Amino acid sequence: MMRRYQVRFGHFDDARREYVIDRPDTPLPWINYLGSEAYFGLVSNTAGGYSFYRDARLRRLTRYRYNNAPFDLGGRYLYVRDDATGDYWTPSWQPTQRDLDEYECRHGLSYTTIASARGGIRAETLFFVPLGETLEVWRVRVTNERDTAADLSLFSSVEFCLWDAQDDATNFQRNFSTGQVEVADGVIYHKTEYRERRDHFAYFACSEPLAGFDTQRDTFLGAYRGWDRPAAVERGAAFDSVAHGWAPMGSHHVKLALEPGETREVVFVLGYAENPRAEKFDPPGSQTLNKRHVRPTIERWLRPETVAEGFAALGAHWERLLGGFQVATPDTDTDRMVNIWNAYQCMVTFNMSRSASFYESGIGRGMGFRDSNQDLVGFVHIIPERARERILDIAATQMDTGGAYHQYQPLTKRGNNDIGQGFNDDPLWLILGVAAYLKETGDTSILDEPVPFDNVPGSEVPLYEHLRRSLNYTRERLGPHGLPLIGRADWNDCLNLNCFSDTPGEPFQTTENATGGSAESVFIAGQFVLAAKELAGIADLRGLGDEAAEYRAAAEKMTGTVTEHGWDGGWFRRAYDFHGRPVGSGENDEGQIFIEPQGMCVLGGVGLDDGLAVRALDSVAERLATPHGIVLQQPAYSDYRIELGEISSYPPGYKENAGIFCHTNPWIMIAETMVGNGDRAFDYYRRINPSVREAISEVHRCEPYVYPQMIAGRDAPTHGEAKNSWLTGTAAWNFVAITQWILGIRPELTGLRIDPVLPAAWSGFRATRAYRGATYEITVQKPAGVTGRVTHLLVDGERVDGTLLPVAPAGAVVRVEAVVTGPAD
Ligand code: BGC
Repeated sequence: MMRRYQVRFGHFDDARREYVIDRPDTPLPWINYLGSEAYFGLVSNTAGGYSFYRDARLRRLTRYRYNNAPFDLGGRYLYVRDDATGDYWTPSWQPTQRDLDEYECRHGLSYTTIASARGGIRAETLFFVPLGETLEVWRVRVTNERDTAADLSLFSSVEFCLWDAQDDATNFQRNFSTGQVEVADGVIYHKTEYRERRDHFAYFACSEPLAGFDTQRDTFLGAYRGWDRPAAVERGAAFDSVAHGWAPMGSHHVKLALEPGETREVVFVLGYAENPRAEKFDPPGSQTLNKRHVRPTIERWLRPETVAEGFAALGAHWERLLGGFQVATPDTDTDRMVNIWNAYQCMVTFNMSRSASFYESGIGRGMGFRDSNQDLVGFVHIIPERARERILDIAATQMDTGGAYHQYQPLTKRGNNDIGQGFNDDPLWLILGVAAYLKETGDTSILDEPVPFDNVPGSEVPLYEHLRRSLNYTRERLGPHGLPLIGRADWNDCLNLNCFSDTPGEPFQTTENATGGSAESVFIAGQFVLAAKELAGIADLRGLGDEAAEYRAAAEKMTGTVTEHGWDGGWFRRAYDFHGRPVGSGENDEGQIFIEPQGMCVLGGVGLDDGLAVRALDSVAERLATPHGIVLQQPAYSDYRIELGEISSYPPGYKENAGIFCHTNPWIMIAETMVGNGDRAFDYYRRINPSVREAISEVHRCEPYVYPQMIAGRDAPTHGEAKNSWLTGTAAWNFVAITQWILGIRPELTGLRIDPVLPAAWSGFRATRAYRGATYEITVQKPAGVTGRVTHLLVDGERVDGTLLPVAPAGAVVRVEAVVTGPAD
C-alpha cells in the first residue's frame, strides 16, 4: 500500500468518542488501552499488543516482543479461512498482511473494534474488558456478504507469557521446560507455575463448539513458520496440541457455515484468575488446577447478552466519568481533547504510570513517584477516590528523611530499588499531588491518614507529616548558592550534574545519591517556592498559622535566592554544576537557555512582580519556540560532556538534548496566562495538540489522539516527528494548562475559581463542571478582539465580586456567568 501522499490515516468521530483509522499501515502502530481497573490490555490498530493483570512485569498474560520487525507483531490474532478455496487472511491485516477490500479500526474509550472484509466475508471484532472483571472479551461478528453459502474456519490465537515478563524474555534454559496447559470442556487453561505458586492461571474460552485447538505454538505455526502462515490455518485443521514446555499458546478452531447474508457472533474470553485462598494448598502431589470457580464467570461472558450488557455498562461508565467536565469553545481541537482524548489519556497515564506502552516495555519501570504525582493532577477530578488511594500508596514508599524511591512496583506497592533514589525533586511532587487532590475534593481527612515510611509497619505518621518532610528534604539540602541540591537529577532525569572528573585523564566518578555532590537546581528552587506556598495553604486549612507563615517565608527567601543566583539577565538559569559553573546561561557555549526553570519559576510566582517572568517568557518565545512546540534547550549539545551527564548523550534535537519534550510546554502555557498572555498560551497549546497535528500525520507519525512524550526538535533531521506516545506527564499538564489556566476553571483550596485568560479572537465559551458534588454551568462571554480578565461573577444571577465561586451544596446546579472586560487587542 502506498502512503507517500497520505497525510491523514483516519478521522475523529467525536459523537462516538472514537478515532477511526481507515488504513492498517499507519506510520507507527496506533494503539489503545483496554481495562482501567486491574486487568489491562494494549491493542494496536492491527490487533497487536498484550495483556496483564495489575503489573505489566509480574503478571503478564500474553507475550509480546518489543523492538520487533515488523514493529508490531504478536497480539490477539484471528484468522479467517475460506474452506472451499483454502484462502485465509487476518481481518486485522497483521500478521498475514493479505489485502483487505475494506478496513476500519475504531479506538474508543477502553475498547477497540477492527472491522474488515475480503472476498465477501466481513469480520468485525470488538475488544474490551468488562468493568469489575479480570478478563477481556473479543466479540467477533462474521458476515457472509456473498450470494452463495460460505464454509469458513475461524482460528483464534494468543501466545502466553510465563507471567514474569522479564524472566520470560531471558531465562530460556528454565522456561522451555516449565510451560503447562490444560484443555477442559473447550477451555484452554494456561497454568504454568501453578504448582510452584499455586495461585494464578489464565484461561481462554470460546462460545462455539470447537473443531479443534492448539496450545503449543510451534505445532500451530509449524517449523520455520511465523504468525503470517500458521500450519494449522493453512491446512484448515488444528492439531489438538497440548503444550509441555516450550511456548504455550491458545488457539481455538471453529467452523462456520454461513448462508448468504448470515451473520454469526462468536465470543472469545481471555481471563486471569487466582485460586481462592482456602484451596491453594491442594493435597501433596495434586496436579489438578482448581478451575471450578471460574467456570460460571466464563460461561456468563461467553453469552452474547452478557457481552452486550457489559459493553453498554462500559459506555455508561465513561459517560459518567467524562460528563463531569465538558466544554464548548470556538476551537474543535480544544473541545475534543478536553472532552474526550486528553481526559482519557490522563486516566491511562494514571493507571500505567510509565510502565506499559509500545515504548515502555512494562518491565523497566514501575510507578514513578514523580510521574504518578503529576498524573494525579490531570486525573483527580475524574475519580477522586482512586486518586486518594494512589496518594496514600505513593506516600507509603517515602523514607523518613523525606526522600523517595524513584519508582515502586504496582503489584507489591513497594519501593523499587533497581532505579534507586536521589532524584531531589521527587519529594516535592507529593506536596503538589496532595494539593491538587485537596483543591478538587476539599477532603482534608486525607491529611490525617496514618501512612508508614518505606512501608515499614509501625512507622505510620499522618500524611501531613510526610508533606512536611518533603519540604524539609529540600530545605536540608541546599548548595553553595543556597539553591537546592540536584542530587542524581531533578525533573530532567538526564541532567546528571554530579558526574565529574577532578583530574584530567582520570575516569569520571558518579555521585548517585541525594547527599553527595554539590550541583544545584534552579528548577527545584522554583518547584520549592510553588510547593512551599501550597503547603502554607494546607497548613492554614489545618489552623497552623505559624507554620504557614514559616513556609511562606521560606518561599520568599528562595525567591530571593533565585533572583540573585538563578537569573541570567534574560532568563532563569538551569542549574550549577558540581564545580559551581552555571548551566543554562549566556556564559555557556551550548545549553544557554532551558525551558524548565522558565516554566517552574513562574509557576511558583518568581518574577511576577519585578518583570523577570515576562522577560524569561519572551526569551522562550525568541529562542526555544518552534512551529512544532517549544524545545527543551538551546543550543543543543553537539558532544558528550561528562559534567552534564546523559543529557549530552542524545543527538541534538532528541529527547532532553533540545527535543520538544512536550511535558514542559504546558508549564510555559500556564506561565503565559499568569502574565496575562492568552494568545501566546493558546498558540503554544495548539502547536503540540495532537488533534491539530493530525493534518501532518505523515510527519508526526504517532497517534493523533494522544500526546507523545517528545517531538523531535529543530536540530534534528526529523524535526516534527513524535515519539513515545501515551505515557507522559504531558497529558496531565496539558489538561491543567487548557482547563485551569487558559479556560481558567481552577479548583483552589477554598473553592472553584473562574479566571480565564483567552485568545483575543475568542468570543467566550461554555462549560459544565462537577465540583465537590455540585454542578456548575458556566458561561464566559468576551467580545472578540478584547483581551482582559473577569472581574466579577454572576452566580445564579447574584453578583459575586472577584473570581472565586463559593462552594455550593452537593447536588446543586449552579449557573455561573462571567464577562471578560479589558482593552481591545
Ligand atoms: C520521565 C520523567 C522525567 C522526564 C524528563 C521521562 O521519561 O518519566 O519522570 O521527568 O523523562 O527527563
